[in-house]
Amino acid sequence: MQPEFETLLKDRRSIRAFTSAGVDRTAVERICAAARRAPSGANLQPGKFHVLTGQPLAALTATLARASAENRPVDNEYSYFPDPMPAELKDRQRKAGYALYNALGIARRDVAARRAQFDRNYAFFGAPVGVVVTIERTAGKGCFMDLGMSIMTFLLAAQSMKLGATGIGALANYGTLVHQTLDLPADELVVCGIALGHPDLRAPVNTFRTERAELDEFTSFRGFT
Ligand SMILES: Cc1cc2nc3c(=O)[nH]c(=O)nc-3n(C[C@H](O)[C@H](O)[C@H](O)COP(=O)(O)O)c2cc1C
Repeated sequence: MQPEFETLLKDRRSIRAFTSAGVDRTAVERICAAARRAPSGANLQPGKFHVLTGQPLAALTATLARASAENRPVDNEYSYFPDPMPAELKDRQRKAGYALYNALGIARRDVAARRAQFDRNYAFFGAPVGVVVTIERTAGKGCFMDLGMSIMTFLLAAQSMKLGATGIGALANYGTLVHQTLDLPADELVVCGIALGHPDLRAPVNTFRTERAELDEFTSFRGFT
């Protein structure tokens, strides 16, 4: 493996705080063009990236902030996580959450602070660019996998340009509201968001690293000597 590629993979992490610097359209277009290079089954190239900045992004985040403040019930149109969550995965989720809240100095029982941090999802973590990722409503599970590869390519392309990004599955909590606010075509389903901007590397929320399961938990090898 090329060392540059390994470094890119190692250095990428979810960025949840950004400087005030904007990202121009040409840069975002390059990242989206990279995401288009992702392979897909039968080259279907499912999904769409709706890129927002300035007023349209502010209007969407204001609508979402209002919905959350009013405790509007969530309206996910697809299930992201297994239900019920197997204990092993629950444990990984807990560890990732703990790392995040620990970096922010938020205590386990501080429900208000946790809620405030969760609401940052709906503000695209203050990023200057927010992407709303959608997929055709008719898409099968394989198409979601294809779209995931585009998202990963987007994240790595951003990293290679010294930008920071994070996926925002939480956006799908208000998928219908996002759909309405952006007046998206009826056949599109909101999958997730992506926040993109210049990383604020001094922000505590950007300082922690998440763990990964050991390779032997993730793989099984047969026939090798
Ligand atoms: C599709 C996708 C959706 C995600 N949704 C959220 C989210 O809603 N909120 C959040 O804080 N992080 C979200 N993340 C970030 C994950 O929590 C993060 O990728 C994981 O904990 C591994 O950490 P790392 O990206 O720093 O390596 C998402 C990541 C992906 C790829």
